[in-house]
Amino acid sequence: MLRARHLIDTSDLTLKELEEIFDLAHQIMANPKEFSHLCEDKILATLFYEPSTRTRFSFEAAMLRLGGKIIGFSEPNSSSVSKGESIADTTRTVGCYADIIVMRHPKEGAPKVASMYSDVPIINAGDGGHQHPTQTLTDLLTIKSIKGELSNLKIGCCGDLKFGRTVHSLIKTLSRFENNKFYLISPNELRIPEYVKGELNKNNIEYTEVEKLDDVIGDLDILYMTRVQRERFFNEEDYIRLKDSYILDIEKIKNAPEKMIILHPLPRVNEISIEVDDDPRACYFKQAQYGMYVRMALIVKLLGAK
Ligand code: CP
Repeated sequence: MLRARHLIDTSDLTLKELEEIFDLAHQIMANPKEFSHLCEDKILATLFYEPSTRTRFSFEAAMLRLGGKIIGFSEPNSSSVSKGESIADTTRTVGCYADIIVMRHPKEGAPKVASMYSDVPIINAGDGGHQHPTQTLTDLLTIKSIKGELSNLKIGCCGDLKFGRTVHSLIKTLSRFENNKFYLISPNELRIPEYVKGELNKNNIEYTEVEKLDDVIGDLDILYMTRVQRERFFNEEDYIRLKDSYILDIEKIKNAPEKMIILHPLPRVNEISIEVDDDPRACYFKQAQYGMYVRMALIVKLLGAK
């Protein structure tokens, strides 16, 4: 059997492949009917050991819209995981029934472990505070569709940059495109991990770390807001102290450029006031929609569906 192609980190895809996925997503958006039977004989399994709305539903909707079928769990205790089954054994077993597996897990590296035991493609749907590669595909398709390019951008990442896996994947991936500059906006305790900064330094990518959003909002092409990740904190007191560090409201975006776009992987708690939703710069629900199309393109690519 040919070795399966997995997506654990966006570096598993070349720049050419990323562009192919975005092109295919645009084709699917333009002509969804042409793709509606492409995966008719295929089954996608979602193994979600952590809660999700967008990632799980968009993967399931993506496979259904490609004509395929879906199985899986969103609550591991309803499966033999509750009896102590290992990731390796669960993966090998589900691989007997499904053609592709999407896994979310609270432990960093769990989907990587699964991929070592799998003959079918494994897609990392978020592993702890580490990476979330398909959110990054979503973010990049959104940026490319709205801004027209993935280079020459000034990107502000704001909020919980320590535990927010979406920003780790996003920064790493946008660093592969030319002339992007990052503004890393967070409280001191929630700064970006050293390993992400190491990647930026290694590749001579310009970045600046600041605490105040007001100091940089006027310079940005993209403002990427994030939720403070309550589930990754070691104690509730720290979470309560830091949870309202940034609240984007109408007053704050008065100083932002007219063409800046506001993204958020969602779910939000209160870091973006609902009044901002009606501002033309707010693109986070459109972003969730792009997520389904880019996942359709990814499934087609990993399954080699023709
Ligand atoms: N953005 C994202 O991963 O959302 P869910 O947790 O709802 O899947």
